[in-house]
Amino acid sequence: MSTYKVGLIGGDGIGPEVVAEALKVVEAAGVSLATTDYDLGADRYVRTGDILPDAVLGELRSQDAILLGAVGPPVGSTSVPPGALERGLLLRLRFELDLYVNLRPFTGVPGALAPDCDFVVIRENTEGTYAGEGGFLRRSTPFEVATQGSVNTRHGVERCVRFAFALAGGRARRHLTLVHKTNVLTFAGDLWQRTVDEVSIDYPTVTRDYNHVDATCIYLVENPARYDVIVTDNLFGDIITDLAGAVAGGIGYAASANLNPDRTGPSLFEPVHGAAHDIAGTGRSNPAAAIRSAALMLEHLGEASAAEKVTHAVTEFITSKPDPALSTAAIGDAIAERL
Ligand code: IPM
Ligand code: MN
Repeated sequence: MSTYKVGLIGGDGIGPEVVAEALKVVEAAGVSLATTDYDLGADRYVRTGDILPDAVLGELRSQDAILLGAVGPPVGSTSVPPGALERGLLLRLRFELDLYVNLRPFTGVPGALAPDCDFVVIRENTEGTYAGEGGFLRRSTPFEVATQGSVNTRHGVERCVRFAFALAGGRARRHLTLVHKTNVLTFAGDLWQRTVDEVSIDYPTVTRDYNHVDATCIYLVENPARYDVIVTDNLFGDIITDLAGAVAGGIGYAASANLNPDRTGPSLFEPVHGAAHDIAGTGRSNPAAAIRSAALMLEHLGEASAAEKVTHAVTEFITSKPDPALSTAAIGDAIAERL
């Protein structure tokens, strides 16, 4: 079996502790990793002023995969300017490494609003309003103008839509829903809808549907079982995956894969949750989302059976009605023991 080179960005707050549990579980699954720690995040910025030095980005490019915990300063802290880490680190990694698919699976846990839901959101991850198009005119005057455009390229939309169709084609229900706001965003929406219609010709076994994003918020709460694979743009995907996480059992369980499906560089795996400084070091963080993210990493690395075992162990653990007082490390141990 090969040893995979994995870059670790533990980050801030609970990030390093949930990554440690994910590594414990990967080891228990019998997959060998050669890890390198990268000190990045709010803490590093405050100490050194660096966000993502080019040399560090260069090193990250040579990894087989990257596992990230969480980055960000404590809520309310002004130690990092707004957007500096988001744009300078997280989005820069997504853009520079061409991580054009953000895959977020949602499988309900007992006690959730939707314990039986089982769907995947494919969020376009390099364009839309996140692309950074826009700017100010006459800033800080009474006549100032701020614009923030949404960039949608045929190339960018099509590669994401193709990924979503291929994924749907391999699932039991073979159903794809485009989520957008085509009734108002008539330019971008038209491009997305036409792309879905055209790509669908290559996937005749996949049924397709369309939902407006606002209606999707209702359906995600009232009837998430209608969804199998959702494909959507960057901002809609950001918003509906927080909602989906809450409905499926809480953000502590939500995993994500930032994928470069063409494999021109490493893909990056991270829990959807943030740094939660308020509980860092108390042993009260839930490593399940990080462990599920590590399973997505194993799958991408070609270790499908280990990935399946880890995902199964997490599900089994969650359904075993564990003691809610279990510590972060005890949860990691309990999941590792099932492997
Ligand atoms: C996420 C986060 C990021 C995003 C932020 C932190 C840049 O909310 O991964 O969903 O908006 O994509
Ligand atoms: Mn988000």
